[in-house]
Amino acid sequence: MALGQYATNLSVTGVDFCNEMLAKARERVHLRKLTQVKELRKMDAKAFDFPDDYFDTVVAMHVMSIVPDPERVVAEMARVIKPDGKVVMVNHFASGKGFVAAIERLTARFSNMLGWRSDFENAQILGVPGLAIAHGRSFQAFGIKTFLALQKTSLIAPTPRSA
Ligand SMILES: C[S@@+](CC[C@H](N)C(=O)[O-])C[C@H]1O[C@@H](n2cnc3c(N)ncnc32)[C@H](O)[C@@H]1O
Repeated sequence: MALGQYATNLSVTGVDFCNEMLAKARERVHLRKLTQVKELRKMDAKAFDFPDDYFDTVVAMHVMSIVPDPERVVAEMARVIKPDGKVVMVNHFASGKGFVAAIERLTARFSNMLGWRSDFENAQILGVPGLAIAHGRSFQAFGIKTFLALQKTSLIAPTPRSA
């Protein structure tokens, strides 16, 4: 849980649909006096109970390869960020080559047991309309995790100027 990593001048809203995770988060907020965390709510990321253009940034850490419908979750994240807002993710994405890819393919057979998909392709979420890659880099040994920042872009094509 990264709640303590957010700067104290921020206003953080956390969501999860699991009561146990929310209870852990609330305990951490209380014990560490994380005043930047304004609320923790039970919510399904496939259908946020937030208005359009609401947040400056939405962060999803280690979530995309777990949720059953990642495209829909990313579309929801795009909806609730302000124009020019960012969606920031940390996730393991399939590397597609070499030794790591072989391990990914092997462990993918046990996705049901593991609760996440080791062979999850980033293409699944990069095609969501209204978001463009602002920054992406891999980190940790073998580059197994990717930090990805997506920027909201206008879906409306500019009106051609009349001559
Ligand atoms: C691997 S944990 C990561 C938690 C946290 N982001 C972290 O980095 O410690 C993934 C979390 O996603 C939550 N989750 C899965 N599907 C969800 C959904 N559709 N809506 C909201 N939360 C969901 C799970 O309950 C779980 O707590």
